[in-house]
Amino acid sequence: MDMLVVRGGRPLRGIVKVGGAKNAALPIMAAALVAEGTTVLHGVPDLVDVTTLSAVLRSLGAHVERRADGALQITVIDQQPCLADYELVRRMRASVCVLGPLLGRRRRACVSLPGGCNIGHRPIDLHLKGLRALGAEITIERGYVFARADRLRGADIYLGGSFGSTVTGTCNVMSAAIFAEGTTTISAAACEPEVVDLGNMLNAMGARIEGLGTPLLRIEGVSNLHSVEHTIIPDRIEAATLMVAAAITRGELTIENVCSAHLAAVTDVLRATGTEVHFSGSKSFVRSTAAPRPVDVTALPYPGVPTDVQAQLTALLALADGISVVTDKVFPDRFMHIPELMRLGANIRREGASAIISGTNRLSGTCVMASDLRASAALLLASLAAEGESVIRRVYHLDRGYEHLERKLNGVGGDIQRVADDPANMPDSLQLSADELSVPAIDSSDTPPPPKFLRRGESQRIHSHVD
Ligand code: UD1
Repeated sequence: MDMLVVRGGRPLRGIVKVGGAKNAALPIMAAALVAEGTTVLHGVPDLVDVTTLSAVLRSLGAHVERRADGALQITVIDQQPCLADYELVRRMRASVCVLGPLLGRRRRACVSLPGGCNIGHRPIDLHLKGLRALGAEITIERGYVFARADRLRGADIYLGGSFGSTVTGTCNVMSAAIFAEGTTTISAAACEPEVVDLGNMLNAMGARIEGLGTPLLRIEGVSNLHSVEHTIIPDRIEAATLMVAAAITRGELTIENVCSAHLAAVTDVLRATGTEVHFSGSKSFVRSTAAPRPVDVTALPYPGVPTDVQAQLTALLALADGISVVTDKVFPDRFMHIPELMRLGANIRREGASAIISGTNRLSGTCVMASDLRASAALLLASLAAEGESVIRRVYHLDRGYEHLERKLNGVGGDIQRVADDPANMPDSLQLSADELSVPAIDSSDTPPPPKFLRRGESQRIHSHVD
């Protein structure tokens, strides 16, 4: 296992490029299962999650290959397999994206239920509700979702839940409904750009989906889809993370390959903190010279502030000049980063789905533990802004979803080293010496001299004086 050693306090300056969106690439790779022929995907990021889904697709009869030009090529050679095994699915929840394509194209699916997750309770009841409405028979047995349907029929489906729309749920229901007889409507559909990207690719394959990017989708079923070549949209979460990196280090970054429309809510928050943000074509310019102003932020489904940027904004606001409240309405328990940010010196109190942040003017480097993907990004950002050295452990979370992030940050002035997670690699500055650990000496002028031999009760009196 690796850990990152970060030397903080350096403003980031330069040009950095965003890769393709992980959350678009995953359902799109899964959707390649429905096409005849070879699907060619450009801009699929090189991530552990992509490797995991490639293994799932191979187990489902697909040939998956990374070409020399970087494109990912997926050819289905066997349409019979329908089992997505626990051993693979447990590594990545988004493997559940194969459920809709399998049911739609092969009419059978047996997909392991994704297990627990550090960002909160993540049921798939809405996915199953939508697929049942299309006529699928679904049972849950021995940890697997068994779904089958000899015929799928169009239906009117309301897909909203207590926390709003569901992103991968909309992808799954849409990927099955494209093969249903007649018309399907999905209301309260997720409007995230990643869902739109999937829908656009399915339409290019021959599907008939209208209303993409709105909460009401109308889908006319078709019987066959052909393969296409498709380019994945830029990763708006990576872009937002880099924008926060510029702001938190009081640097200036030109961020290439961004879509400004996808970043409207994050841009609004950053501007409210006093960060300068401009767009020109597919480039964004972000600059900050002072402590951020405090702001209140609420993570909501798109087009609101993404829950996937909540932790990074919390890190930024930890250094604000006042009190901010960050609320997550999508994943109300997604606050595992708070205790770790507090180890770096942040003042944060959690109240239900909110973090109340009393800004400090200084964070100081220490050893922190990443709990999930976006929490890792938040800790890395906070470490870049902290004085001294920090160590981020369990960095495999970061590798799941950010393509070469430390390499990109080092390219613009960051000082991040990846080393084996071994006590021998712990920086000296984080190993407190015995002197630093000892209780400060008591000023002898106002302390009675200790008795030569302590009698019962006397040591107690001396300690209470120290307290
Ligand atoms: C996707 C993203 C994830 C992001 C999240 C919210 C991918 C691979 N992952 O996850 O990075 O944080 O969207 O933008 O795209 N819910 C239910 N029942 C369901 C499904 C969801 O109650 O059947 C709830 C969830 O617990 C959560 C909310 O709805 O509170 C949103 O979840 P959802 O949009 O489904 O998240 P994912 O698609 O899993």
